[in-house]
Amino acid sequence: MKFTFYGHSCFLIETQKEKILFDPFLSGNELAAGKVDVNSIEADYILASHGHGDHVGDLLSIATRTGAQVIGAFEVITWAQNNGIKNVHPMNFGPARLGFGKMHFLPAAHSSALPDGSYGGNPGGFLFHDTEKKFYYTGDTCLTMDMQLVPRYTKLDFAIMPIGGNFTMDVDDALIASDFIGCDKIIGVHFDTFGYIRIDHDAAKEKFRTAGKELILPVIGETIEL
Ligand code: NI
Ligand code: MN
Repeated sequence: MKFTFYGHSCFLIETQKEKILFDPFLSGNELAAGKVDVNSIEADYILASHGHGDHVGDLLSIATRTGAQVIGAFEVITWAQNNGIKNVHPMNFGPARLGFGKMHFLPAAHSSALPDGSYGGNPGGFLFHDTEKKFYYTGDTCLTMDMQLVPRYTKLDFAIMPIGGNFTMDVDDALIASDFIGCDKIIGVHFDTFGYIRIDHDAAKEKFRTAGKELILPVIGETIEL
């Protein structure tokens, strides 16, 4: 299974069968400029964790071009439909069966409004049960006690979580979150894009290393085999 980082919280998971794109936000990200061509990204599915512009900024254009199925909270999907997207799968919190298998949409403690100001429903994260490696993307969230439920669902191979602080967990919270979800291999996202969320990479990795865990800080454009 492959993970490709497109900057901020945008990444692609490639299984043997499908390409799953998360939180498409590229053209508005100065750090991604010149590193990733938005028009070359392929996807069979596009998952939106919530409605904020730094997570759905390029959703409509990529969904329109690729015909990928757009998956997310009912209200985010309503917004996509109102903007002409037809291949959709609306959800609310809980388990669902998608083309790639079983997935839980789990709560995030954050907020959610779409770029046009419409209501985004509840923000969340996605737990994948049936992909070759089991993984959880928390979406934008602070540390929550709900994360302790994750080990009851599955033994994760890796997890993706925000570590930039200010709007989400920081590195210290992510370290606790990794305990809660029972996973020692964490890919950090949602860092460095804006001044509020700049982090010290070496210090962040060292904190995880000291705890006997691994923090991967992907470089924009980088593909990691997992
Ligand atoms: Ni957000
Ligand atoms: Mn965000």
